[in-house]
Amino acid sequence: MKTYDKLIFELSRPGRKGYELPADQYATDGLAAIPADMLRKEPLDLPEVSEGDVVRHYTNLSNKNFGVDTGFYPLGSCTMKYNPKINEEVAAMAEFANVHPLQDPESVQGALEVYYNLQQALAALAGFAEFTLNPYAGAHGELTGLMVMRQYHISRGDTKRTKVIVPDSAHGTNPASAMVAGLEVVEVKSRPNGSIDLEDLKPLLDDTVAGIMMTNPNTLGMFETEIVEIAKLVHEAGGLLYYDGANLNPLLGKVRPGDMGFDIMHINLHKTFSTPHGGGGPGSGPVGVAAHLVDFLPNPRVKKGEDGKFYVEFGDKSLGSVSTFFGNFGVMLKAYAYILSLGKENIKNVGPMATLNANYIKESLKDDYLLPIQGVCKHEFVFDGLKDKSTGVTTLNVAKRLLDYGFHAPTIYFPLLFHESMMIEPTETESLETLDEFIDVMHKVAKEARENPQAVIDAPLTTPVRHLDETGAALHPILTYKALKANA
Ligand SMILES: Cc1ncc(COP(=O)(O)O)c(C=O)c1O
Repeated sequence: MKTYDKLIFELSRPGRKGYELPADQYATDGLAAIPADMLRKEPLDLPEVSEGDVVRHYTNLSNKNFGVDTGFYPLGSCTMKYNPKINEEVAAMAEFANVHPLQDPESVQGALEVYYNLQQALAALAGFAEFTLNPYAGAHGELTGLMVMRQYHISRGDTKRTKVIVPDSAHGTNPASAMVAGLEVVEVKSRPNGSIDLEDLKPLLDDTVAGIMMTNPNTLGMFETEIVEIAKLVHEAGGLLYYDGANLNPLLGKVRPGDMGFDIMHINLHKTFSTPHGGGGPGSGPVGVAAHLVDFLPNPRVKKGEDGKFYVEFGDKSLGSVSTFFGNFGVMLKAYAYILSLGKENIKNVGPMATLNANYIKESLKDDYLLPIQGVCKHEFVFDGLKDKSTGVTTLNVAKRLLDYGFHAPTIYFPLLFHESMMIEPTETESLETLDEFIDVMHKVAKEARENPQAVIDAPLTTPVRHLDETGAALHPILTYKALKANA
């Protein structure tokens, strides 16, 4: 450990500097402005390095990173589509980047117009009356949407409705958001094909149900064909339908959740609308609602007056505020640039192309990987590990071996419905050549698993960090450099 620590990490040398600022101009004046009792007593323990060391350190670190700009990233449920660079240029424009949320609305009419237009565009694409752009992420959108749901029932004096039905295949954030919103989670079973079991649902629908959370296509990438019937049953029981829009991509421009009977939804702009996410950037989880729920949306809201001017409104019946000011404006600009770049006609190709790509991979690999759910999927699908499990090669091993071949691993061990889940989502932005390369490598790994399983079990062999002791890391996490030094 000591040698590794010394060789790889410790770049600091006492007295080494990047810049020295003129003492008279900065240090003296600056320090003089700080009251004596607030001055730091001990110098800060910072690395002492040259500018060259810093540049090399961060450049090397960035080269070790894997992202959509470096390779194929088929992480199921995450919609890792390419992030067009024009989006970044738009978001970086001084006219947008330098506005402050406390500015007089008169002075930021352009920014408010973009904000308002995005609200309108999302409402039109998803089939809802209005959208708030305030939430910072998908899970935050879920929480906001469930708070709207609760507020709606409370406003009608229907305070008994405290239960939210969540399918057993749901993304983990769904039950978590319901709990944070102060609601009780009731699980509804899925059928073997991942769709909701109506016979299991019906007895759950009573006057304590606030609503149901669903995603369509579901977590297995299959379209919920009985959605209209489900909506009817839930509405008849007095509940509302919440749509988890993380899986909106295959429907974009084709089918609208609002038309399926949903009352509330969130959209992950950082998935469907091409803005970076994961380690690559902040997110945004706008929430859309049907007309009868508009008043409960969080404050502040951006409106357009009859005079054509944009203004900020704080509604009386609103559930309050869920974010500082208006949410992640930079992310919204990127999403809006994406919508305008595609335009009304091209946006209709997103869903079908994402669906085609997923089905192409699924059909090409099902001789080597176990496909528990047959039929046409939407944007993603799930394999239950290798078809031939006799050599003991697991989904985790396959995922690690893919890294050796330059591909990001799919989502693994989710959904929990299968023991060896491997969830693959290619998105529409990948070319046929990339899909073919991935398919070839997946076949190659399956062949290795049969003929030389140890090579797969020992993977990754070519990445900067090799096969990790995951149990050790979980049991004895070393999360800071200081802790590493202390441990060495
Ligand atoms: C189906 C589903 N719902 C909700 C979320 C939560 O979104 P976020 O990560 O933006 O909070 C995700 C994220 O992966 C998801 O896949």
